Amino acid sequence: MDPIGKFEDSQANDELGQAVGFLRSKCPGFQPRVGIILGSGLGDLAESIHSVASIPYREIPGFPVAHVSGHAGRLIMGRLAGTEVVALQGRCHFYEGWHGAQASLPVRTLLGLGIELLILSNASGGVNPRFHSGQIVLIDSHIDGMFRTGLSSRAVGSAPNVVGRHRVSYDRQWIDRAQRTALKLGFSLPTGTYWATLGPNYETRAEYRMFRNLGADMVGMSTVPEANIAFEHQVDVLAFSIVTNVANSDIASVTDHADVLNWSARAKLQLLPLVQELLLEYFQSDL
Ligand code: HPA
Repeated sequence: MDPIGKFEDSQANDELGQAVGFLRSKCPGFQPRVGIILGSGLGDLAESIHSVASIPYREIPGFPVAHVSGHAGRLIMGRLAGTEVVALQGRCHFYEGWHGAQASLPVRTLLGLGIELLILSNASGGVNPRFHSGQIVLIDSHIDGMFRTGLSSRAVGSAPNVVGRHRVSYDRQWIDRAQRTALKLGFSLPTGTYWATLGPNYETRAEYRMFRNLGADMVGMSTVPEANIAFEHQVDVLAFSIVTNVANSDIASVTDHADVLNWSARAKLQLLPLVQELLLEYFQSDL
């Protein structure tokens, strides 16, 4: 298959229908309210979900199977802090060569299941020198440096007809809620602009410097396509970026995937209680 060619809409919609239908048949009557995509090193947050079903991606029709270590490749439906959630334990990345329709099927499936909020997480390099390794930052804007066409849901079926009319922004209300909840838990959550590259390589010092000068605070290889598709569907997005290495554009240093996983694992100790508290406060209080 042409790796970056376009799928026919009908084919993409058929695949979406099959994935959503398959998951509904596995959990009849289960209606997730929140979708969660767990990035590098964050997958085992899913262990805190009281699982109703845990399904390897390879069993879900059309799902791409992630190849990157730190990405387990399972979809979990269950309850977190009493709220019905569907979580993706690991994502595939465009640098693995997936076609836009394949790579975006997981997020389109979460949206197709009718979630009200999409929580995204990733590991990133900090280009803002005020950040430190292990810090959690809320993404409040992004720069799409993937330079790939065909990654919107318009290009892969199932798109609402909102060309140029949907908002392209992370939900302000959820950012405020997350910041207030973090303070209650004893830490502060800065906001930042995330630059998405296609990857898979980390950056040269000159690239880190350029990203900083062009307005980015973090750089990573995911999240933006998922956020854009959720924006098109008018679903609120709350995105957490774990800074796993801070770029010093003047001193040579090596970014290593093991460090990335290590720092994400530490940040999880703050991220999990934060997400649980948010769900308790904003989904359980409306019961
Ligand atoms: N660059 C891109 N992606 C990343 C980095 C980085 O420095 N760290 C973790 N993910």
